[in-house]
Amino acid sequence: MTFINHLRTFLSTNRKIFLQEEEKKMIRGVIFDLDGVLVSTDELHYQAWKRLANELGIMDFGRKDNERQRGVSRMASLEIVLEKGTKKYTDEEKRALAEKKNDYYKKSLQSLSPEDVLPGAKEALEMLRERGVLTAVGSASKNAPEILERIELMPLLDKISCGLDITRSKPDPEVFLVAAEKLGLAPEDCLVVEDSAAGIQAARNGGMKTLAVGPLSGQLGGDFEARNLSSVENWDEIL
Ligand code: BG6
Ligand code: MG
Repeated sequence: MTFINHLRTFLSTNRKIFLQEEEKKMIRGVIFDLDGVLVSTDELHYQAWKRLANELGIMDFGRKDNERQRGVSRMASLEIVLEKGTKKYTDEEKRALAEKKNDYYKKSLQSLSPEDVLPGAKEALEMLRERGVLTAVGSASKNAPEILERIELMPLLDKISCGLDITRSKPDPEVFLVAAEKLGLAPEDCLVVEDSAAGIQAARNGGMKTLAVGPLSGQLGGDFEARNLSSVENWDEIL
């Protein structure tokens, strides 16, 4: 066998390792979804929507319906509630209903504290900062700044991109592209951590790698998956 053939065989056998090495160098920023990734507010969203649904006479709104609301904008989440009932609402009535849910939700945020940060989230942010990897939040929520203040994670985040910065919701990649831009990074240099189908799709639409976490992590088709941020087995493999 000629030297060239040897080289060819060597390169093709080790292609995966070379590609992994190349990918490793590419992650310069990690963009975290907020609700259900950094903090347990996903449960508070669910309780507030359930209260509204019950008031509207929709008694069978449950966790399965709420799974579809993960990552989805406030108005789109409302539609998921209303499609379970028969009554039709005008746009004005819908805005009032969404506001009502937000009032319930905001009331529940008043008792939010650093204890509500999800397992491993703070440690992951600290580890990334130590490694020189930039961090951001990419969340559909307009309540993101208040939540981050309450759970005291603001000092560990370089940038915030949230519902107040965007006009198109996930699975549109806008919120993540804004986050990458604020970090001064190209989308392909970023990893997105998400707990929702809409969010994983949004990250993919934006050309970013994905780590799926949360109760649906096994079903979201992320590039990597873990039950939560404390059970990520090997960050070296991801970064
Ligand atoms: C996302 C949640 O993070 O934010 C959704 O997963 C929620 O459930 C959306 O609807 C909008 O949040 P907010 O706080 O602006 O109503
Ligand atoms: Mg989420």
